[in-house]
Amino acid sequence: MAAPATEVWSSVPEAPPDAIFQLTAAYKADQYEKKVNLGVGAYRDNNGNPWVLPSVKKAQAALIADESVDHEYLSITGLAEFTAASAKLILGADSAAIAEKRVASVQTISGTGANHLGATFLSKFYDFSKHGGGKREIHISNPTWANHKAIFNMCQINPVDYPYYDAKTVGLDFEGFTGALKSAPDGSVFLLHACAHNPTGVDPTRDQWHQIADIFESKKHLAFFDCAYQGFASGDLDADAYSVRHFVARKSISVLVCQSFAKNAGLYGERAGALHVISATPEQNKAVFSQLAVIQRAEISNPPAFGARVVTLLLTDPSLWAQWQKDVKEMAGRIIEMRKALFSLLTEKFKTPAPGGSWDHIMKQIGMFSFLGLSPKQVKMIVDEGHIYMTANSRISMAGLTTSNVEYVASWIDKAARSA
Ligand SMILES: Cc1ncc(COP(=O)(O)O)c(C=O)c1O
Repeated sequence: MAAPATEVWSSVPEAPPDAIFQLTAAYKADQYEKKVNLGVGAYRDNNGNPWVLPSVKKAQAALIADESVDHEYLSITGLAEFTAASAKLILGADSAAIAEKRVASVQTISGTGANHLGATFLSKFYDFSKHGGGKREIHISNPTWANHKAIFNMCQINPVDYPYYDAKTVGLDFEGFTGALKSAPDGSVFLLHACAHNPTGVDPTRDQWHQIADIFESKKHLAFFDCAYQGFASGDLDADAYSVRHFVARKSISVLVCQSFAKNAGLYGERAGALHVISATPEQNKAVFSQLAVIQRAEISNPPAFGARVVTLLLTDPSLWAQWQKDVKEMAGRIIEMRKALFSLLTEKFKTPAPGGSWDHIMKQIGMFSFLGLSPKQVKMIVDEGHIYMTANSRISMAGLTTSNVEYVASWIDKAARSA
């Protein structure tokens, strides 16, 4: 006899809440007037409000006015105009891989879905018995976006850390990183953040990327790029794609790229993204694309249309393309301004003692996030007493700072830094 419904789930343990979403809930529940949310990785304008990009507003209006737009299913691999334009955006309009028909592009549920589809594809088709020392492993930076671990675990690929962040310099541990690349068995899979590393804001320089690519080439490692912030690092969409384009241009490195339009188009909830798998030949590409479609069919059947249609207009309509580039610059520019403001308050106004002896890392770090380098105890003080919400590792979203709250935030960083 079947177990009674009341008992079927009795052994399911309750999972802890997601740290980031919990932080947002705590912020919302807080009644304090000066509260600040520096937890969530979403852009805010200088009034602390979500920003619908002017280019996106125009694209939306055009879609709504277009009576030929219906609500039919997209194809399994998504909107072809979207995936083609997205591939050009990340790989470059002059990409040889695209011209040679070696890029399999599939529309995904934003960047998370791209990671998941890529992980599932690797899980099914990467021969872990012959590469990477016979272990089903992916090497991920320590630290990384928390969901990476969860996604790869879900796909039966074991995430293992490689050194990345140096707490002493609050910068890149280049020796540790390249040491791990060299000592990993040939054919290992490494996840790389294309730009604006989350959570540290610490990126390799171009010269360092060249050295990293040299090792990938000689060790035949597979590069699994995650690109969630193209345009956010420098304000320039091409410059932020440098690492990916450099690896793909080398031809001998196997590359997968996960792409998200959540941040750079402010389309968080629309779930617009893509996975691009670069193969050596058009024949391989055809087979890879067909298998990605098989996985996609079983997982989501076909992706959502609206966000992809908006992005397609941004990428293909000349006036929207120009406006979008301006919008991206504006977001990146405001973030850079906030970095400067926080840095000068801490160094000039408050003369705050810095964790590693200097606050230079605030200016050097790139993109939406900054790692302050404070201890969990100091962070707790800022959260509990200052009502300024941030993750325990002292990662702050620069987009949560505004000209009206930055001094308040700096004053609490100062108090915490002077406490034990
Ligand atoms: C490194 C990284 N990858 C992927 C994502 C996925 O975001 P989304 O699924 O919203 O595109 C994020 C979002 O924060 C991220 O930081």
